[in-house]
Amino acid sequence: MITKTPAALQIGGVLIDPPLILAPMAGVTNPAFRLLCKRAGGCGLVCAEMVSSYALHYKNVRTQGMLLLIDEERPVSVQIFGAEADVMVDAARQVEEAGADIIDINIGCPVPKVVKTGAAGALLKDLVLAERIMLAVVAAVKVPVTVKTRSGWNSDHITAPELAARAQDAGVSAIAVHGRTVNQSYTGHADWNVIRRVKETVTIPVIGNGDVKVPRDAERMFRETGCDGVMIGRGALGNPWIFAATEKYLNSGVVSPSPSYRDRLTAAWEHAVMLAEIIDPNQAVRELRGQLAWYIKGSVGASAMRARLAKASSLEEIRSILDETSR
Ligand SMILES: Cc1cc2nc3c(=O)[nH]c(=O)nc-3n(C[C@H](O)[C@H](O)[C@H](O)COP(=O)(O)O)c2cc1C
Repeated sequence: MITKTPAALQIGGVLIDPPLILAPMAGVTNPAFRLLCKRAGGCGLVCAEMVSSYALHYKNVRTQGMLLLIDEERPVSVQIFGAEADVMVDAARQVEEAGADIIDINIGCPVPKVVKTGAAGALLKDLVLAERIMLAVVAAVKVPVTVKTRSGWNSDHITAPELAARAQDAGVSAIAVHGRTVNQSYTGHADWNVIRRVKETVTIPVIGNGDVKVPRDAERMFRETGCDGVMIGRGALGNPWIFAATEKYLNSGVVSPSPSYRDRLTAAWEHAVMLAEIIDPNQAVRELRGQLAWYIKGSVGASAMRARLAKASSLEEIRSILDETSR
């Protein structure tokens, strides 16, 4: 096992230290959750949820609101998706203007309504278009551009190594690889061999992703794939402490104790307050309904709390549900 956190990761001029990264998650990695992960320690880079290049291009106000970044969370990466180079260039410029430290291109999302537009995961079926988009975006902005992809379109087309080579040639500064195909969506297991193959193919930093649920998994991913950074998604839901625990485990082999029930509920409340301060409070309440029960997932009170939160209509109501759950 590794007993020292792998070296800090350099993405263009941006230092990612430690090389542990919060994955972009739509509906989840809003500024409040990103800050919670950052404050808990061990998280070298946070990624905002993906934004549609078309929505930015056509000046959708709600989407533009998703570009709100906070100094304390830096470095922060903002991900865009689309299928037209010109539109992606316009979106990338807006994201740069909003202050993103890194611009990430989504070449992996399997959500049908996105894929059917030819964007995201669909680009794994058209590497020529993917390359055109990467070249155009890299040329349009000064900040480093990264790509987040999957292993391929399906198990017959494992194209991540080829995409990575094209990305490197296009001037992309790092590539994150989720070891599932687009067709797999979230079923089965992530195939970490593909991450290793990508690492053997390119010299730009490679970030491994998929199925890192506990710190030990991150250590194994570094060791088995040779990746330069590890990205964690679902393992961070309701668990912003996972990065600090991973850093500690990598450094010392020591497994951190789980935060107490009370600490979890306190973090849930912090999450709620921050989100309601940052975005429209009514929208915050709607988003929080699905997210706060993650903090006590697996505990006796979790399903009752989830059911009550689903009907909460104000921050005060959320407060009293959390108070009653902590008794
Ligand atoms: C709720 C949710 C939303 C997601 N949204 C995005 C997204 O906006 N962009 C993206 O590239 N991947 C997105 N993903 C995929 C994750 O970034 C990550 O690649 C995937 O969950 C595998 O990593 P994990 O096993 O650590 O969760 C999302 C995943 C989840 C669960």
